[in-house]
Amino acid sequence: MDQTPLHSQSQRHTQDLAEEFAIQLQPGDVVALVGDLGAGKTEFVRGVCRHFQVQDIVTSPTFAIINHYDGQLAGGSPVTIYHVDLYRIDTPEQLRSVGFEEMVHAPNAIKFIEWPEKASHEMPERHWTVTLRNDASDDNARLIEITAPERQMITDY
Ligand SMILES: Nc1ncnc2c1ncn2[C@@H]1O[C@H](COP(=O)(O)OP(=O)(O)OP(=O)(O)O)[C@@H](O)[C@H]1O
Ligand SMILES: [Mg+2]
Repeated sequence: MDQTPLHSQSQRHTQDLAEEFAIQLQPGDVVALVGDLGAGKTEFVRGVCRHFQVQDIVTSPTFAIINHYDGQLAGGSPVTIYHVDLYRIDTPEQLRSVGFEEMVHAPNAIKFIEWPEKASHEMPERHWTVTLRNDASDDNARLIEITAPERQMITDY
């Protein structure tokens, strides 16, 4: 996928764009979710979870730091979706205590990391980046930019 930004007009639209994006994800993939508070990172994960037929309700891992969901690949094989919110993480020790390193390298899971800059030294080099930006002229509009691992030249958050 190239870097042409997608335009979302609503919460639901962001979920739909995420659901479509998820088609190309594979077990082992890591997705950095970049964007301000309320940008729509969690809404994006909701759409991804819909693609993987997650039955649980997806909630923000603000306090749990790491949530995980049982999903299914297109062929029916199980896959775990991790949703991580590092907003409250301030030290390498805290990152270690939540088991970030083991989680982020789990080969059979797909991982979404909000506030990846809090783990910049622990992020695998190969990862997707999804950046969500608010639109000053419309509260319900977002610009969503997706960078594939192959195009990820530098850590730009
Ligand atoms: N186009 C849009 N896409 C996504 N969310 C939208 C959009 N328009 C409005 N919203 C609203 O913005 C909020 C996004 O919240 P969300 O929890 O997904 O943000 P977040 O980026 O995960 O923030 P945080 O860093 O606090 O976890 C929701 O209240 C949602 O209804
Ligand atoms: Mg969130």
